[in-house]
Amino acid sequence: MEHWSSSSWRSKPIVQQPAYPVLDELIQVEQTLSQLPPLVFAGEIRSLTQDLASVAAGKSFLLQGGDCAESFAEFNANKIRNTFQVLLQMAVVLTFAGSCPVVKIGRIAGQFAKPRSADTETIDGIELPSYRGDIINDIAFTAESRTPDPKRLLSAYHQSASTLNLLRAFATGGLADLHKVHQWNLGFVRKSPQGEKYQHLAQQIDQALAFMESCGINSASAPQLRETVLYTSHEALLLHYEQALTRQDSLTGDWYDCSAHMLWIGDRTRQPDHAHVEFLRGVHNPIGIKIGPSTKIDDLRRLLSILNPDNKPGRITLIARMGSEKITELLPPIVRAVKAEGHSVVWSSDPMHGNIIKASSGYKTRSVDAILNEMKGFFEVHRAEGTHAGGVHFEMTGEDVTECIGGAFQITEDRLGDRYHTHCDPRLNADQSLELAFLIADTLKKARG
Ligand code: PEP
Ligand code: CO
Repeated sequence: MEHWSSSSWRSKPIVQQPAYPVLDELIQVEQTLSQLPPLVFAGEIRSLTQDLASVAAGKSFLLQGGDCAESFAEFNANKIRNTFQVLLQMAVVLTFAGSCPVVKIGRIAGQFAKPRSADTETIDGIELPSYRGDIINDIAFTAESRTPDPKRLLSAYHQSASTLNLLRAFATGGLADLHKVHQWNLGFVRKSPQGEKYQHLAQQIDQALAFMESCGINSASAPQLRETVLYTSHEALLLHYEQALTRQDSLTGDWYDCSAHMLWIGDRTRQPDHAHVEFLRGVHNPIGIKIGPSTKIDDLRRLLSILNPDNKPGRITLIARMGSEKITELLPPIVRAVKAEGHSVVWSSDPMHGNIIKASSGYKTRSVDAILNEMKGFFEVHRAEGTHAGGVHFEMTGEDVTECIGGAFQITEDRLGDRYHTHCDPRLNADQSLELAFLIADTLKKARG
């Protein structure tokens, strides 16, 4: 293997990058960023690797979720709290259903850069650079807004730091109390038109909590019941940002990308000989790899040998995003090939990115049914192959948006315009997210046997 450094990606081919008009400004920002404190610490990253190793071994389940793209405009404490709450609510349902710990990772505190299908966008005959996420340019359709601005890397860093600060406080400051989270779930079950379906599970959790209480196990006596850990993650797309936050750990001498605990490679940037793979092979964070319909088994084998030559459990999460109609056909040969290599991975399902449709009104949307079907297909494949369906990856928000159609609260196509706020792909709202957690609870129960 060639020598790796945090800048060795710069000599490789690269796609999905912005064209900065003034490179000097970018270099200055990179220097500033590289002097700022890391957002997460190597020890935390190692804990996540261990937690994911337990998922890979079939002993835990992974829940990863958050915005498609975080935005500078929609940045406030309520929004962060709401996302945190829904993730925790889902995790409680999944923990109980799967009778196993749930590793929680947000798409948060750094999920700003977006890959795009085209470099430019044309409206009324005017062609401008595509919006690539708030860390790069602004969504407004003017030449000025769409010009990539390096100062945005600093804004993204500071927003990520404040977001993480609040998340860390929520995780240990009382908001994560299991009793409280369960009360929110009961509130959801009461108001959902399909609530009856979920009542049984909610009652079982009630009884379990009451039983523990009578044994003297409660929030006051057991910190596990009042505290949690929420890790952070984002797509490692803008390598200028990632490199500037990469540090050598003084304890081990290993390199870590301290912009988030986990990073993933998108479906469009996973070419084995390109820059994104080169960068990620040298950092010791857990790495996600999106696998879509265009994934070739030979490329995947190469990727695994480049990114995890020592086959370290917890290092690799394969995130399947095949589409609800293709998952049962496309996933099995991949699962078999990885199994035949003896490679230890976490298998996770992203039932979002293969199911984007265009509503007649022009809005990009996804249906809750298609999302549920892809997840069911994913579980089915793993049951047949004898592998562990280890986790799920959602684009979701704690807000009451109308971006995905369907669900018990019946978001219809003609209501998409009511509260369509996403800066990129359509997200599940709080109710739809919880509904899906309750709906896969049964499948999870069966999978655990
Ligand atoms: C994403 O996760 O937001 C994304 C762009 O996914 P993918 O690379 O799988 O298309
Ligand atoms: Co997306």
